[in-house]
Amino acid sequence: MTAAAHEVEAETERLFRALMHVDCEPGRSWNYEACRSFAPLTLEINRLKREHGAVILAHSYVEPEITYGVADFKGDSYFLSVKAREAQARMIVFVGVVFMAETAKILCPDATVVVPDRGAGCSLADSLTGAGLRRLKAHYPDAAVVCYINSTAEVKAESDVCVTSGNVYDIIEKLPQRRILFVPDRLMAENIRTEMKRRGCAKEIVASDGTCIVHEVFDASAIAIARARFPGLHVVAHPECAPEVAAAADFVGSTGAMMKYVRGTPAPYFLMLTECGLVGRLQVEDPEKRFITGCRLCPYMKLNSLAKVRDVLAAPRPDQIVTLEEPLRCRAARCIERMFALAPPA
Ligand code: 13P
Ligand code: SF4
Repeated sequence: MTAAAHEVEAETERLFRALMHVDCEPGRSWNYEACRSFAPLTLEINRLKREHGAVILAHSYVEPEITYGVADFKGDSYFLSVKAREAQARMIVFVGVVFMAETAKILCPDATVVVPDRGAGCSLADSLTGAGLRRLKAHYPDAAVVCYINSTAEVKAESDVCVTSGNVYDIIEKLPQRRILFVPDRLMAENIRTEMKRRGCAKEIVASDGTCIVHEVFDASAIAIARARFPGLHVVAHPECAPEVAAAADFVGSTGAMMKYVRGTPAPYFLMLTECGLVGRLQVEDPEKRFITGCRLCPYMKLNSLAKVRDVLAAPRPDQIVTLEEPLRCRAARCIERMFALAPPA
């Protein structure tokens, strides 16, 4: 066998050892053959990464051959924004969706931040423009403007503070204003109202009208049916789900918190009301856990692929490079830094 063939075989073994338990997507398999087909690409990407001094950040929702094959850091939005801030990299490849790469560019202005597919939008981020938020703000001049991290750089530049699904409740509770203009997730706003009531914190939450096309579809009546079929089932939901779904779940939290909950909970089965990539991560990292089907695919996250990561690393096209006007970037950075001040990284 040639040295190159040996290298591919060793890489196949490495990938297979990580991915052998993954079966999170209907019609896809991460068997030995599949791992052998990824191996030349992951080897090439990891080589290009070293040559370019690049760091690859991947959201937990992208395909497992990316998170376990080439990512330097994988996780939820908050974790990845902390890693972007810490990165001293010349180049950041953000494998996720475009608003996440914009966040990395806001925090790392000197790095070249690139995305594998410029079409990787987000139904939440794309629901509100900076001009739309300015119009809303004119109606609520006394409100603190809080934007979910799933928002464009323009919206962040118009906001007082940014939040993620992991720190949204604690940050809103800490704000002195009674009235909060929360954008762009209408369902998360409803979950915030419930949580503020539960905490005895008097807040009026005004919201814009965005939803996540992945999480809005989960249905509380399906949870009751699943519980009857799988006794002892634990239902784990994301706060982008509707309030009836959140109320019927055993745990609601960011993707990072959902992983922690599953790993720390002895239960015969779990139902994950989120994107299937998160189930894949748990199958890799905690293969003893059992999941019943029910997760959904985000079409934007799934636009990413190893081939596109390789292409963008080798020679990014202009549309794959994230650029922001400096005054807008500075205003957006203030809103994210305020988040770090109110919810410091652990
Ligand atoms: P988190 O990773 O912050 O929980 O967000 C989930 C999500 O839907 C990102 O688009
Ligand atoms: Fe946006 Fe929903 Fe996809 Fe996350 S899962 S990127 S919120 S559309």
